[in-house]
Amino acid sequence: MSAPYIVTISSEKGGVGKTTLATNLAIYLKALHEDLPVTLLSFDNHFSVDQMFRINRRPAKGDVSGLFSGINPDSLIEMGEYGVQFIPSSNQLSDLRRELDDPTALARALAKSSLGGIVIIDARPDLDIFTQSSLYAADRVIVPVKDAPSMDNCRHIYDFFDLHGLSRRPLRILPCLVDGRIHYEGPFRDPYQLLKAYAINRGYRCMEGFIAKSPKVESLNTNPEGKIYPVLTHGRQTEVHVQMAHIARQVYLNSIDTEMRRLDEYRMDMIHAEEEHQSAYVTRCKNLEIGCLVCGQPLVKNNQVDSAGYFAQSSDQKVAGFIEEECFTNLVFRYFYGAKRAIEAHDPIWDLFRESAQRSFFILQRAPHTRNFYQQKLSFYRFDDNGLEVSHKTIELQEFEKRLLSKERSDLFPLLERTLFDDQGRLNDTFLLIRKVSSDLPEEILFDKNFGNFSAIMSKISTQLP
Ligand SMILES: Nc1ncnc2c1ncn2[C@@H]1O[C@H](COP(=O)(O)OP(=O)(O)OP(=O)(O)O)[C@@H](O)[C@H]1O
Ligand SMILES: [Mg+2]
Repeated sequence: MSAPYIVTISSEKGGVGKTTLATNLAIYLKALHEDLPVTLLSFDNHFSVDQMFRINRRPAKGDVSGLFSGINPDSLIEMGEYGVQFIPSSNQLSDLRRELDDPTALARALAKSSLGGIVIIDARPDLDIFTQSSLYAADRVIVPVKDAPSMDNCRHIYDFFDLHGLSRRPLRILPCLVDGRIHYEGPFRDPYQLLKAYAINRGYRCMEGFIAKSPKVESLNTNPEGKIYPVLTHGRQTEVHVQMAHIARQVYLNSIDTEMRRLDEYRMDMIHAEEEHQSAYVTRCKNLEIGCLVCGQPLVKNNQVDSAGYFAQSSDQKVAGFIEEECFTNLVFRYFYGAKRAIEAHDPIWDLFRESAQRSFFILQRAPHTRNFYQQKLSFYRFDDNGLEVSHKTIELQEFEKRLLSKERSDLFPLLERTLFDDQGRLNDTFLLIRKVSSDLPEEILFDKNFGNFSAIMSKISTQLP
């Protein structure tokens, strides 16, 4: 089934007629095409949508906040008056607002649904995360403007589209609450002509027509019954009736002209991104050294990693692999913490190190000004989770080479040979970043998000190293 055509009614200015337009547009669309599924959702805090459409008196199954917590939209939809479906409004949006920061969240939720036809979103009079999400998902954004200040505010909506690299094509200005009693001298005879000229002057495209200010329409939501009546049923004699019908017809025609819907694009982007993630992951696995970078014991088989404690990658990304927990712990204690004996796994010092290592990044790098072969020194840094230096130690490499010659088994040299030494056994210009991995799933560090963090820390640290 093809994705729904999403119409977002948004303006940062309050009281310009967004909710009146969104609710009536839904009813007019339904009147135009009885079979067309029309679904309305509102992030407004006035609950007008619920008041106007709710038939069911039972408690709602959920509300629009559920769209941001992974609930499938299909299970939130209620059938309402006039054949219009809606998702109930929420009074929990102010809490949720603080937790959300991803404007693609609504598109992602709607992409999972089986919604079709036209979805109309009534946004709040600001550019909060719910409005941003509604703009991001939209095939058509109608921006009601009633005066020069509300026209000025449109800039922020256009800026949002530019900032996210979205085409401005969906955006349309609609002069609303136009007072027919006002006339001007000069080329622009009334507020509609003037607002349209302002819009064109700023390079904004307009819907055809406008919505007039009508006392009758205003009275439709203030009456002794406490109801909100539609223009279609209770305001047919007003000019707004004709204007709403005209807007609905345009929206409908645009919807059938738009073969590639925003959600289709988004779904394709998601599939594409997933494929890219998959292939990036497979490439990362393929480039891994098979054995432990210290002792050579095989750890990687069929993109799966066995019993590794640490992951290491050189800053030029030429070498990446895993290190067994024991190998790394002993190497650190022996060469950098001056331990006289090997540390056993049940030693409390081991536990202490393992625990604190989870919050650390380790670095091995040639010490500054020691490029000369006979003066080579190796620096060992420890950085915290935020990429800030915690400690630093430098050792002479030659001294350890002597030990190597005296046939004492060295853990450090095989690691350096596999990672930082050039062909002549000199430390090259790169550094090695080492990070503790989960013992259950060591390869988790190669998953997109984790690897992204690892790479971000690598760049942050690289700017701080000498
Ligand atoms: N065409 C119209 N003629 C006269 N009054 C109107 C018209 N459209 C809306 N109104 C009135 O203007 C007021 C604001 O309308 P509405 O609630 O639709 O605006 P809004 O942009 O959704 O407001 P908010 O930003 O607070 O959500 C309401 O009292 C409504 O009855
Ligand atoms: Mg409103």
